[in-house]
Amino acid sequence: MKKITGILFLFFGLMYTRHVGAQSPYQETYRPQVHFTPKAHWMNDPNGLVFYKGVYHMFFQYYAGSSVWGPNSWGHAVSTDLIHWKELEPALAPDSLGLIASGSAVVDAKNTSGFGRPGQTPIVAIYAYINQELEKKNINAQYQAIAYSLDETKTWTKYPGNPVVKNPGIRDFRDPKVIWYAEQNKWVMTVATQDHVTYYSSPNLKEWKKESEFGKTNGAHTGVWECPDLIYFEDHGKKIWVQIVSINPGGPNGGSATQYFVGDFNGSAFTPFDTATKWIDYGTDDYAGVTWSNTGNRRIFLGWMSNWDYATVVPTEIWRSSMTIPRELNIKKTGNSYLLSSTPVKELDLINEKPQILSHVSAGREVNLSAALAGKTSHYKLKILSDEIKDFSLVLSNNQGEELMIGFDPAANQFYVDRTRSGKIAFSEHFPKMIRAPRLSKEKNTDLVFVVDDTSVELFADDGQTVMTVIFFPNQRMENISLKSTQGFVANKIEFNPLRAIWNDELK
Ligand code: FRU
Repeated sequence: MKKITGILFLFFGLMYTRHVGAQSPYQETYRPQVHFTPKAHWMNDPNGLVFYKGVYHMFFQYYAGSSVWGPNSWGHAVSTDLIHWKELEPALAPDSLGLIASGSAVVDAKNTSGFGRPGQTPIVAIYAYINQELEKKNINAQYQAIAYSLDETKTWTKYPGNPVVKNPGIRDFRDPKVIWYAEQNKWVMTVATQDHVTYYSSPNLKEWKKESEFGKTNGAHTGVWECPDLIYFEDHGKKIWVQIVSINPGGPNGGSATQYFVGDFNGSAFTPFDTATKWIDYGTDDYAGVTWSNTGNRRIFLGWMSNWDYATVVPTEIWRSSMTIPRELNIKKTGNSYLLSSTPVKELDLINEKPQILSHVSAGREVNLSAALAGKTSHYKLKILSDEIKDFSLVLSNNQGEELMIGFDPAANQFYVDRTRSGKIAFSEHFPKMIRAPRLSKEKNTDLVFVVDDTSVELFADDGQTVMTVIFFPNQRMENISLKSTQGFVANKIEFNPLRAIWNDELK
């Protein structure tokens, strides 16, 4: 008996070692190789995105107690290139006022807040508290607060006068995003208020005055609005403003998604140019995205690559959720209307392996790209240029017969991602689905950029006018790639860039 027990111990001991060995950090099953994930535990929205002295700071909703949502802190990671990240200690922890929900951060270069000291510029975080204890008693307990750092985000002091904006008598009142409105020398805060947004202004980040509300009759309204961001672009010397705001549920493919409105902002009120509901990403898995502050004329956008419909049950246990690839936003004018275009930041090229180029690929029936491209990988960038968009599908598959299809349906004028046979799908009834997006470009020619990681694909079509981000969980890596078409889609050029895993970098 003793012997058998000994053997059993040895057996399970070995199994355990193998298991742990196979799970070395950043190598675990489903660990994205070119997208940011926390080393462990739960993550949702990006927060406090701010660029300062050559460093991109990414704070994020983080719960170290589990790999499902809990009373969040702000996690913290830094990068000098938007691609390689180093995770630091969490920055802001819950306190007696509540948990630390989403928000933003600014560099108070003029020391309007008075928090600065000679030679020490304040970085000010503006965030929402949610007091769950009070909410349980049906008391409205979400309000805006600030904290500041005088040592480039190493340590933070919560402002003793918090909250700086009290709850106006509504349940959903959160996710403040602050910008400097130079024309009137003041800060402007956009806050999500139920199913619309409210603008506040302040000379010093401490005292805020309500300016106006926007959105009660614009856009989608089947869910709560969250994580707004007000940004602008210059078009021939004129400022074109874009109000970005997430909604959950109510996305074009179900659950969470992010809409935007293009218009004018005069420091007090936002007036949209038109009434169309536009989506920054039609996929199921880009939520709560906002832009970095203090990046000059660059608008760099980052989203949480998941969906509240199933975020807490996706089959990763050590950590849960990833961020999207950071994207550069621009404005495009077609006719009288403006569209946002989003494309992967140019820094993604830093992890390009040697590119392989195929010219004039006629996807008559099926072209096995992985054979043509020599070498298998499950993280890469694939660019397809064609003079004429036609029916096509890019099929990622593995040797277990699982596949993910990304394609274009000319009859419907839609791009689609079909993840119904992509591996593990049964963890949520909302997960197995065909995801669709309208083609917004009217051009005959097209350019398609696919950023593929072990568990995600991001399609940027027509210079990022239509974007789709979709996650998937195959039982084996999808290392086979083929291109199919029934109409004879011809790719003039296919550029294939294997991407180097970001975790191999010295920043780790
Ligand atoms: C969006 C959101 C925010 C909130 C945060 C809480 O995903 O619901 O509105 O601040 O997550 O974690």
